[in-house]
Amino acid sequence: MTNLNQRSPSPEFCPLAIGPDLSPLPHLKAAGTTSVDFAGLLSSPLLLHEDLSSGCGGQTWPAGMLLAKHMLRYHRDDLRESRILELGAGGGLVGLAVAKGCNVEKPLVITDQRAMLSLMKHNISLNQLDGEVEAVVLDWGELLGEDILHLKPDVILAADCVYFEPAFPLLLTTLADLLTLCPSAQVFFCFKKRRRADMQFLKKAQKAFNVVEIMDEDRPVFSRQGLFLYSFTAKTQQRNGS
Ligand SMILES: C[S@@+](CC[C@H](N)C(=O)[O-])C[C@H]1O[C@@H](n2cnc3c(N)ncnc32)[C@H](O)[C@@H]1O
Repeated sequence: MTNLNQRSPSPEFCPLAIGPDLSPLPHLKAAGTTSVDFAGLLSSPLLLHEDLSSGCGGQTWPAGMLLAKHMLRYHRDDLRESRILELGAGGGLVGLAVAKGCNVEKPLVITDQRAMLSLMKHNISLNQLDGEVEAVVLDWGELLGEDILHLKPDVILAADCVYFEPAFPLLLTTLADLLTLCPSAQVFFCFKKRRRADMQFLKKAQKAFNVVEIMDEDRPVFSRQGLFLYSFTAKTQQRNGS
């Protein structure tokens, strides 16, 4: 097992981004287990198995690192009663960090496509979080499953889910479904701008939801790296609250 700083950094890779010219696959980061303590915010490090064989979520991503750090720094003690769900969790970086380092009392649900299910489950067990974190399949754009409808999540985590343009409307649909299911819910949404199209996603989100930048002392640094950290809430919530 290696520390995140000792393992090779996660390359900017996504199999979905392979061009129509069938250009050669970039070099894949080798599978292995990373340990990460988010600059000391976790007293015992999170163990994360990374394996890109099931998809690009099988490695750590910069927005995931940032969102996990943000939650550990600013939300350690205010999520006790929250019903937390993570979208596009990949190996579970953000959700597992929250389950490990924040005071949460309810089981936290990490979700992704079916191909990522075994990696999510593996990482739950690796951190002895069975019973505290559950891995569930949630495909953006599809109807929410019974377990999610029952949970009515009121805190939604989404990191580095903006990277593949055809999936933008699907992700917006799922976010809208979740904010309809629980109109008081808050989405913590973190992404890295890689292409101009990524800002189109943000424009559409701004039309559909209340989108507000979240305060974070690292903002000057992460802004320079093209990282964005927002809160999305339902528009109706603002009307009721104002
Ligand atoms: C770039 S990875 C980010 C992983 C993790 N959140 C992080 O920050 O390290 C994006 C994730 O979104 C998931 N994803 C992509 N399209 C999806 C879809 N249509 N439905 C559900 N998840 C999807 C991928 O499987 C992948 O795990």
